[in-house]
Amino acid sequence: MLENLLSERGLMKIWDSSEICSSDEWEKRRSEILKLLCNEEYGFLPCTPDNLSFEVLEQDNKFCAGKVTLNKVSITAQFGNKRFSFPCWTSIPNGNKKYPFFVFINFRGDIPDKYFPTEEICDNGFAILSFCYEDVTSDDNNFSDGIAGVIYGGKDRKDNDCGKISMWSWAASRVMDYAKTLSNLDLTKAFVVGHSRLGKTALLTGALDARFACAISNDSGCSGAAITRGKRGEKIKDIYNSFPYWFCANYKKYMDNEHNLPFDQHFLLAAIAPRKVYVASAKEDLWADPDSEYLSCVAASEVYEKLGFTGFVHPDRLPNVGDVFHEGNIGYHMRDGLHYLSREDWLHFIAYLKKQFKI
Ligand code: GCU
Repeated sequence: MLENLLSERGLMKIWDSSEICSSDEWEKRRSEILKLLCNEEYGFLPCTPDNLSFEVLEQDNKFCAGKVTLNKVSITAQFGNKRFSFPCWTSIPNGNKKYPFFVFINFRGDIPDKYFPTEEICDNGFAILSFCYEDVTSDDNNFSDGIAGVIYGGKDRKDNDCGKISMWSWAASRVMDYAKTLSNLDLTKAFVVGHSRLGKTALLTGALDARFACAISNDSGCSGAAITRGKRGEKIKDIYNSFPYWFCANYKKYMDNEHNLPFDQHFLLAAIAPRKVYVASAKEDLWADPDSEYLSCVAASEVYEKLGFTGFVHPDRLPNVGDVFHEGNIGYHMRDGLHYLSREDWLHFIAYLKKQFKI
């Protein structure tokens, strides 16, 4: 059944080769895919910093009944004679271990926050490093503030220069740079997470930055996990008209023209392989289109299988509320309810990671 649905939607194969392939061959194909995604959708970051520095600004080592240390840290990037700083918060259990950890791209800087139950995450044996996306650059057409101001400095954007999603993703990788300086984190178990526009950002981060062992997107929808060919709810035209600044200018070529995209969003999921990717949907989130998010997982599975790994383990039907598929390298669940990053979503992410990484 699902094979038919994929071919009705005219989905492209990610990799021509029909046989099991070596990881070197995949890395070559993967870098072509990343170039396509950056050139046509998210844009390339026009420059990289010469130097990074970190400063702990505040510390509370009695957070969560004394079980957790909460630090506020300033991350500073130097670009020639310009500098840019943004705050990040680290919540790390107080035990004597190396903790698996989330890099969480959030809408707000609050700890805890309605989108993340900090104490419960830490009680489950995970640390969490979070930042507020608008501390990196504003969520609007202003390209003169935050990191946008530093990298563009009043210059026009070229058609494949980055939009805001790439900049938020850049910041998630700088938080990972900071994580590398901490002795109580397990760097082999780093997971990037985001919801909605920040779920799109988490997937891009997982694709570009191989230090993340899993990228988790919650309700990321259009230009995130959901395939665009045949998508219901939000389309490229809707998203580009409302949020052109999230993308590079080239993306507008595909408004009402999805069939000419030289890829689809399952390429973004696959670009994370052989590392893991997790897609979470909510039944009533019709703007994101849960079926298209699910079909994207089905289509991305091809790459894991050609590499000789388990891809997406699922029945041959569309998803229902309560489905939880945690067996493969692509994890998935669909919960009841609306567009939201809920405690229930976090508990599924945690269960998947514990199972897959033997935490
Ligand atoms: C809008 C947008 C979505 C996005 C969402 C969000 O609804 O159309 O693409 O995911 O905002 O980030 O909350």
